[in-house]
Amino acid sequence: MDPNASGLAMRLAEAGQSHLLQFWKKLGPKEQADLNHDLQGMDFKEINGFFQKAMEMSSSSKQEKMDTRMEPVPREVLGSVTRDRESLKDWELTGLHCISQSKVAVLLLAGGQGTRLGVSYPKGMYDVRLPSHKTLFQIQAERILKLQQLAEQKHKIKCCIPWYIMTSGRTMESTKEYFSKNNYFGLEKNNIIFFQQGMLPAMDYSGKIILENTGKLSMAPDGNGGLYRALGNQSIMDDMERRGVGFVHVYCVDNILVKVADPSFIGFCVKKGADCGAKVVEKNNPTEAVGVVCKVDGRYQVVEYSEITLATAEKRSADGRLMFNAGNVANHFFSFSFLKDVVQKYEPQLQHHVAQKKIPYVNGEGQLIKPDKPNGIKMEKFVFDIFQFAKTFVVYEVLREDEFSPLKNADSQDAKDTPTTARHALMSLHHRWVLNAGGHFIDENGRHVPAIPSLKDGTDLPIKCEISPLVSYGGEGLEDLVKGREFHPNVMIDEKGVHELVKNGV
Ligand code: UTP
Repeated sequence: MDPNASGLAMRLAEAGQSHLLQFWKKLGPKEQADLNHDLQGMDFKEINGFFQKAMEMSSSSKQEKMDTRMEPVPREVLGSVTRDRESLKDWELTGLHCISQSKVAVLLLAGGQGTRLGVSYPKGMYDVRLPSHKTLFQIQAERILKLQQLAEQKHKIKCCIPWYIMTSGRTMESTKEYFSKNNYFGLEKNNIIFFQQGMLPAMDYSGKIILENTGKLSMAPDGNGGLYRALGNQSIMDDMERRGVGFVHVYCVDNILVKVADPSFIGFCVKKGADCGAKVVEKNNPTEAVGVVCKVDGRYQVVEYSEITLATAEKRSADGRLMFNAGNVANHFFSFSFLKDVVQKYEPQLQHHVAQKKIPYVNGEGQLIKPDKPNGIKMEKFVFDIFQFAKTFVVYEVLREDEFSPLKNADSQDAKDTPTTARHALMSLHHRWVLNAGGHFIDENGRHVPAIPSLKDGTDLPIKCEISPLVSYGGEGLEDLVKGREFHPNVMIDEKGVHELVKNGV
């Protein structure tokens, strides 16, 4: 294991990374073995190449403003739940038919570190304090189960929606254990396939790999676009092929409202003959920090808010909407053949983006330093980097209040996208489902609560309503349970029926 004898020291010297062994002699045998194991598995030439290209790309894209090269999404490739109401049923039926044929798979991106939320376990295991205390993973699992049942009932045929779950080195074991402990939430164990994305070292601005302690490199997952490499090197595409998967819905773990394998979205993309589709929500505030889907030099991509000027962000079309309003929510459709091409042909062409971070490191004396300003970079690929390769690209616009509420930050006074906002978004959607199905809410005096109750700052939701995905996937099938009925403002509806909850208990 001597790094000189094994040739490791030489390889590191050639790559300009010899500093990684600077504490070697001070390490115990176990630490030496672990460090040796980590270093032996790394291709330093490749990592140095990623660093160089990523740095080049980040400096050039800043100088060359996007504004003059951007075009909005043309109407003919756009489907909209508000503007194309007459087609919605047809798209949904098409999607449901594909699901009944077991042609649709879902792919969950759950390899992130959840740094901003600040929990040590996978974000999918987070409980946002719904009345049921279901976690994000459980909500998604139950939506899949329900959708399978809806497709089976409609088409009188047994079907399955395979669920591919991408984790990272840090989240794999705990995610698997969590699913196994919970009996896969009623899904078939064989239809949940876990796989692991790659990790890359954090580097300082001169390209030196950072040590997080004297015997350990600072490593991070290679971004949600690490998906494509992982799909190839873990034979996931082969698994999909064996199962006859034709279409894949890719989404992020943190969106509590996500319509997993949304039949209308799938149906829209299939009917349009698309190889790649992006779900978007309307960006209606020019300064909202969201990337927009648009064309750049004739090819589709997501342009980040930091890449455009305010003047471009504020441009409006004749109908008064923002011109660049297709807000990306990292929710995508891929045909199997497109995904296969990406994995086999295009992935190596994708370049890493640079994220400047404050990265804890050990100094020459072996002391841990926690910097207070960015001191290095993490390299990440993004899931949407492949839009440019699509031959038939489509965009599907949905309502934010129905479909998008991501969990990013811990609760605090002014924070956005928190457990509280996620919980409220879900309960407010379910409240609306009850009203639309003919139910009413009454207060302690028996009076109807207005459909749009007033919300005072800092107070909790006046109506707390949660509906199990096992009862309704998207608001359907509730009439028999709620029509003409009156409910107190704390109600939970699940497979066992309607439960009034203790007042003020969340
Ligand atoms: P974010 O970029 O919001 O990252 O991920 P995050 O890990 O959830 O949170 P922070 O930035 O550390 O606070 C968006 C989605 O992409 C996934 C995440 O799990 C989430 O579903 N993701 C992110 C990956 O799968 N792999 C990655 O390397 C990064």
